[in-house]
Amino acid sequence: MTERRIIRRARGIDTADGAGVKLKRIIGQPGLDMLDPFLLLDEFRSDQAGDYIAGFPEHPHRGFETVTYMLAGNMRHGDNHGNVGRLTAGSVQWMTAGRGILHSEMPEQEDGLMWGFQLWVNLPAQDKMTAPRYQDIAPERVPVVHPADGVEVRVLAGELDGVSGPVEGIPTAPVYLDISLQPGAQFVLSLPAGHRGFAYVFDGESALVAGETLRRSELGVLSEGEQLRLAGTDAPARLIVVAGRPLQEPVARYGPFVMNTAEQIHEAIADFRAGKF
Ligand code: FE2
Repeated sequence: MTERRIIRRARGIDTADGAGVKLKRIIGQPGLDMLDPFLLLDEFRSDQAGDYIAGFPEHPHRGFETVTYMLAGNMRHGDNHGNVGRLTAGSVQWMTAGRGILHSEMPEQEDGLMWGFQLWVNLPAQDKMTAPRYQDIAPERVPVVHPADGVEVRVLAGELDGVSGPVEGIPTAPVYLDISLQPGAQFVLSLPAGHRGFAYVFDGESALVAGETLRRSELGVLSEGEQLRLAGTDAPARLIVVAGRPLQEPVARYGPFVMNTAEQIHEAIADFRAGKF
């Protein structure tokens, strides 16, 4: 068994998106442009309504998937095909934009903490123009596994100790785990060998990832391998570990459109302008 190591580190940069939502962009910024098949990772966290209240009014997507994982607060989403839904704390929305949707993601609260992640997962060339699809997963549908003393894992996608997460049928066969570590806890996580992945500490001070200290708000890019050693330090910590099958295809990217060629990007813009989404 080959152990995965941290081969690169990245910290998010403070930015704003949508109509002015403040967030930390961790993947999809100059320090870490992408991590095939992942195109973007944002963490939004604020208890100041002014940082999030403007939300993400209607905007398009084509050619990839957006994954929203809520840790605190409430959002509602709606799209031009008539789909509506609520995103509550602990829920996941895995949206396959495919050939195109227009949607909005707006806060459903006027104060209090809003905290979560948005991850963009690329689609292979053959699936970029697939029909749009939502997987809206309520918190109680996410299984919780205790692989060792002091370790609690919410399995959003992928498999741990024979327990599979609720997200299904995604071409990149993703693993998305939310891992809580108590002080001194340790365990070895198995990950599919060829998957690209990362660990990101989002609560507490730090965690030990492959024997190295990873601080809060720091992302560690993982080497290839089958196993990842994780351990707590002297205070509780929480991290996500995310991995997926790399596509190794050309990426042509323009804002909310991610295709394989510049020509397909021009087509996406033309289709969007022509109201074909
Ligand atoms: Fe969006």
